[in-house]
Amino acid sequence: MSIQTEKVAKKVTLTTIAKMKGVEPITMVTAYDALFAKLFNGNVDMILVGDSLNMSFLGKEDTLSATMDQMIYHTQAVCNGATLPLIVLDMPFGSYTSEELALKNATRAYQETNAQAIKIEGGKERAHIVKALTNNSIAVLGHIGLMPQFLRSDGGYKIRGKDKTDIASLVEDAKALEAAGAFAIVVEGVKSEAAKAITDAITIPTIGIGAGLDTDGQVLVWSDMFGFFEDFKPKFVKQYCKGAELIRENLEQYTNEVKNREFPSKEFTY
Ligand code: KIV
Repeated sequence: MSIQTEKVAKKVTLTTIAKMKGVEPITMVTAYDALFAKLFNGNVDMILVGDSLNMSFLGKEDTLSATMDQMIYHTQAVCNGATLPLIVLDMPFGSYTSEELALKNATRAYQETNAQAIKIEGGKERAHIVKALTNNSIAVLGHIGLMPQFLRSDGGYKIRGKDKTDIASLVEDAKALEAAGAFAIVVEGVKSEAAKAITDAITIPTIGIGAGLDTDGQVLVWSDMFGFFEDFKPKFVKQYCKGAELIRENLEQYTNEVKNREFPSKEFTY
């Protein structure tokens, strides 16, 4: 029997997530609006309102220009649609460059949305910021490995954990975040051996994306996993359906029916 009920029908809390480590894999997907959040409600453990919305929702090239206002707006929408999963607001680039700024923005996130946690990217160098937040009753999901907000400073999206030195560095990052009070850590774009070493080294759950099977949970971006985002498809993305194709086919049918004066037929007319 699952820690959650079979269809994840109870409200997921930080305690639920903590208890799942080593017992049951955690499922997380992104959502940006109430419509999809409602579809995911009760069917996943966590929803991340990721700054990936800047790319898949707003059509920008990367996540860097996402703003706090944007993240709050979308998190409000997601909280309106989903009541059961643990909802995490992703703090955008530049919103946590100091302890004071992080606290100010994360306080906004808590006051203006019903998110139960925020996420920030960064390892040991950001542990003091995580500590400042957790000391002030703000729950933090860490994010290490390939960090999209470091895209320009790193000179591209780089897979991490390819050698012993880098694996050791990632393990240090994870331990520093755990010591600072993070309740879980997203581990993105790392070799599976590195993800395993990180997961084994800490007592809080790891949630992998492009990190193999050995993490305590998995996260995918909804528009990637359902085949709506077609600009590129990273190796780690499994497309569970071809959303974009489905929409195009059905839109074509609608267009033809309108052009041929078949829609609206009597059935759809007052
Ligand atoms: O913004 C996002 O969607 C994320 C996930 C890729 C973890 O950070």
